Amino acid sequence: MTRTQVGIVGAGPAGLFLAEFLRQAGIDAVVVEARDREYVQQRVRAGVLEQGSVEAMEQLGVADRLHREGLVHEGFELLFEGERHRIDMQALCGRAITVYGQQEVVKDLIDRRLEVGGALHFDCSDVALHGLDTDTPSITYVKEGEPFELQCDFIAGCDGFHGVSRPSIPEGVLTVYERVYPFAWLGILARAAPANEELIYANTPRGFALYSMRNPQVTRLYLQVPPDEDIARWPDERIWSELHARLETGAGDDFAVNEGEIFEKGVTPMRSFVVEPMQYGRLFLCGDAAHIVPPTGAKGLNVAVADVQNLSEALIAFYARGDRAQLDGYTERCLRKVWRVQHFSWFMTSMMHQPPGRDPFEEKLQISQLKYVTSSHAAMVSLAENYAGLPRT
Ligand code: FAD
Ligand code: DHB
Repeated sequence: MTRTQVGIVGAGPAGLFLAEFLRQAGIDAVVVEARDREYVQQRVRAGVLEQGSVEAMEQLGVADRLHREGLVHEGFELLFEGERHRIDMQALCGRAITVYGQQEVVKDLIDRRLEVGGALHFDCSDVALHGLDTDTPSITYVKEGEPFELQCDFIAGCDGFHGVSRPSIPEGVLTVYERVYPFAWLGILARAAPANEELIYANTPRGFALYSMRNPQVTRLYLQVPPDEDIARWPDERIWSELHARLETGAGDDFAVNEGEIFEKGVTPMRSFVVEPMQYGRLFLCGDAAHIVPPTGAKGLNVAVADVQNLSEALIAFYARGDRAQLDGYTERCLRKVWRVQHFSWFMTSMMHQPPGRDPFEEKLQISQLKYVTSSHAAMVSLAENYAGLPRT
């Protein structure tokens, strides 16, 4: 049996950020992860960091590579009715975003954790939580065939949407708020130089498309597809042909999608999901374990970072002064940003996608909304400040 102050379940962005925030405050933590290091570092997901997430990396002293390789974007574009419209975030709200793959953030944080000799156990199976409503909660798991028990003061459930933490809370405690969307995103990474400096979010009669990138050699592209789409139905030629059709506007615009070798393909379902409260006894849920957003607002990773900043501040107050108020108020504090981000992600998703069985009335509303957010100064400021990220309160 081992003891630690905070047991962290999951080595995704939430768990890794939390471990380093706590370590720098002198609080001991052990991270227990189900998958191996290679898998965790290769998992391709989000790419957009809000200013607040960049500042969190800076605060932890792990932002050197981010500053060297990350792409700072001061604006993004919305494409509809064959025309592109730029939202100048820097001019509208004084903030920018940084394009830097989530897997790079994860690599930087794992490197740091191992460099400082922090406990991080990969490949753990049968992870289970116990005694959550007592003062001595614990985590049990099996590694290399051997059973382990970790006694903790607190447990942080950072194990994503499919983890064990949320289901360990007794029935009846949590209220679930949920919406499943009738479409998914097919995402690819391609060895092709980005043909545009900024992201392009496109609403087209053929469905949504997103032009993004990872670095000057790699583009990241997404297409709206039906939910549970079989990837086998999308050979490379079909993907490129659909990207050309959705993103190239023709008339007076020479923008053309650059093709290249596709080296990663996947389908992501679209869901909005929140549980309240985000805590039970000595268990605190962080990131995707407590809430999911559809990716259209690029918020999932950023709100996970905000949660663990809140939790680390609360734990620091507890260990420094025995002050439980911030721990007790953890849910309430997190939910302010969680619901703002939920609304923004739902709003972007509804504005940009074609629901199946096109409803002409809804189409007219979408186009009206798109014209409004690309012409009214007040609406552009609102879009820009939500996309760039509102500060934690
Ligand atoms: P995760 O990153 O899910 O990390 C959880 C960790 O816990 C994982 O390492 C997992 O292996 C581990 N774990 C799971 N179960 C257990 C267990 N029982 N015991 C121990 N460890 C466990 N957001 C965007 O903004 N843009 C995107 O394009 C985008 N694309 C996405 C694509 C996919 C397929 C998914 C699933 C998410 C995507 N997201 C995207 C969302 C974003 O990536 C997440 O919000 C972010 O990863 C949340 O971080 P997290 O640390 O809370 O959870
Ligand atoms: C990326 C993902 C998103 O969900 C988004 O809204 C913008 C960019 C990306 O992976 O680059």
